[in-house]
Amino acid sequence: MIKEEICKLLSDNVEACKDFSYGDYYSSLPLKIAKETGLDPMVVAEEIIDRIKKPDSISKIEVAKPGFINFFLSEGCLKQELKDVFDKLDKYGSGDWGKGKTIVIDYSSPNIAKSFGIGHLRSTIIGQAIYNIYKFSGWNCIGDNHIGDWGTQFGKLIFQIKKCNLVNDIENLTVQDLESLYVDFHKDVVGNPEIEDEAREYFKRLESGDEEIKKIWQVCVKKSLEEFERIYNILGVKIDNIYGESFYTSMASDIIKEAEDLKISRKSEGATIIEFDDLPVVILAKSDGSTTYFARDLATIKYRVNKWNPDKIVYEVGSDQSLYFKQLFKAAKMFNWSSGLELVHINHGLVRWPHGKFSTRKGDTIHLESVLKESIKRAGDIVDQPQDIAQMVGIGAVKYNDLSQHYSRDIVFDWDKMINLKGNSGPYIQYTFARANSVLEKYIGQYDHNIEISNEEELLLLRKIRFWTETVELSAKNYSPNIICNFLFDLSQTYNLFYNNNRIIGGKNEKTGIALTFAVATVIKNGLTLLGIDFPNKM
Ligand code: ARG
Repeated sequence: MIKEEICKLLSDNVEACKDFSYGDYYSSLPLKIAKETGLDPMVVAEEIIDRIKKPDSISKIEVAKPGFINFFLSEGCLKQELKDVFDKLDKYGSGDWGKGKTIVIDYSSPNIAKSFGIGHLRSTIIGQAIYNIYKFSGWNCIGDNHIGDWGTQFGKLIFQIKKCNLVNDIENLTVQDLESLYVDFHKDVVGNPEIEDEAREYFKRLESGDEEIKKIWQVCVKKSLEEFERIYNILGVKIDNIYGESFYTSMASDIIKEAEDLKISRKSEGATIIEFDDLPVVILAKSDGSTTYFARDLATIKYRVNKWNPDKIVYEVGSDQSLYFKQLFKAAKMFNWSSGLELVHINHGLVRWPHGKFSTRKGDTIHLESVLKESIKRAGDIVDQPQDIAQMVGIGAVKYNDLSQHYSRDIVFDWDKMINLKGNSGPYIQYTFARANSVLEKYIGQYDHNIEISNEEELLLLRKIRFWTETVELSAKNYSPNIICNFLFDLSQTYNLFYNNNRIIGGKNEKTGIALTFAVATVIKNGLTLLGIDFPNKM
């Protein structure tokens, strides 16, 4: 609201200050005008200030070199904000700018008969945070776990299951066993290329609905889903829908017909393809008529459009699929299913250990579960608390490490940084919450937002808290949970400084200290909730 008021004064040339000593907002409009007119920017700034009618929410407007205008919010306005925290509580920071709008979030999306890898962990954590943030902003959110449960690889797996006489035993196989069978197939094929054909035959049988083969496939799907569910439980994640690729096989055939009718595609050596001016060609159907992953993804878009009529569909998938999504989005536009639909690829980076990249091809996959176990163990070492708290801290640390950097960047699993009670880490934010909470426990029922501000540190804390609502919106619009993490880190540091320099309990400005502590605790709680990170009350 306040930002809008200032923006109106300066036709939208307003930004939040990074350094609060310059004010709460600033404008570089004078510099812009000076560049176009050749006038002195400081003179332009002075001119503008003279003409502005200062709103009540602003206490001071200043000109700063080389031509900025800085706005300081009034104490009245900041106190009003504190009242807002007390009124809204767990809704504090929520918005309604998404009201009436729908977003589909395609995330997690692991593959059947393969272990749940580190890349899928990223997609799950970031996707869930984006889901929560959009929901908090008033959007109607639909989570969709587009699991990989279809494709020629199932022919290979079924061939191997048959060859090893495991058909009656699949119920007892783990996902790791299934994955090894698939790897074995690739070893065997080197000396026996003819087994490729046999595998293809099995996949054909699966496609045509052969009961025996379908049963084998179904058990593999069931086993994998049980395993994924177990992991989602550990992570505290729940995804609204799982349709999976197989759901779209017949719809994909319709898409191919539609593409032909609309003359979007053409035949090439028996296959059906789409060509673009500026991107490599894609295949919708192979020469034997079987549909591709691409065609199924197109069918998925059409299905989502018909079912939910979304304004946006976002895909939280690794950056190695960037070209693929460019092709997919471009092809989807050609069908014109929905004119206003925005398609976005949130392309996350790789995960690395400090010394190199995670590799799944060399057979040295790092299993997700061992990573989480290690994290919980290390968390237990630093917090010296019962197991349930170590679990919150350990898993929180992994999630925060993932979320606190821009999604497009590669992240590093550096345990010493992740599991740390100082620095920009999950445990540090959780620890700050627990610290604030332990102050509040002594004053239950006595928090009051009607306060006097007596020093700069109190004021600074309040000014920072006030940016929470704008931070949530910014983070949503940029699909960037890291904006929330950075905010929480900065707020925690400011609070800890305040805590160290001011006696809150029994101090001379006790009431203010408690109200601010309550506001900080509320914001951290709301922030961690959006990030999907649990927090203990004590630590
Ligand atoms: N299962 C795919 C993978 O592991 C990700 C699917 C992403 N979603 C989609 N609609 N293509 O790479």
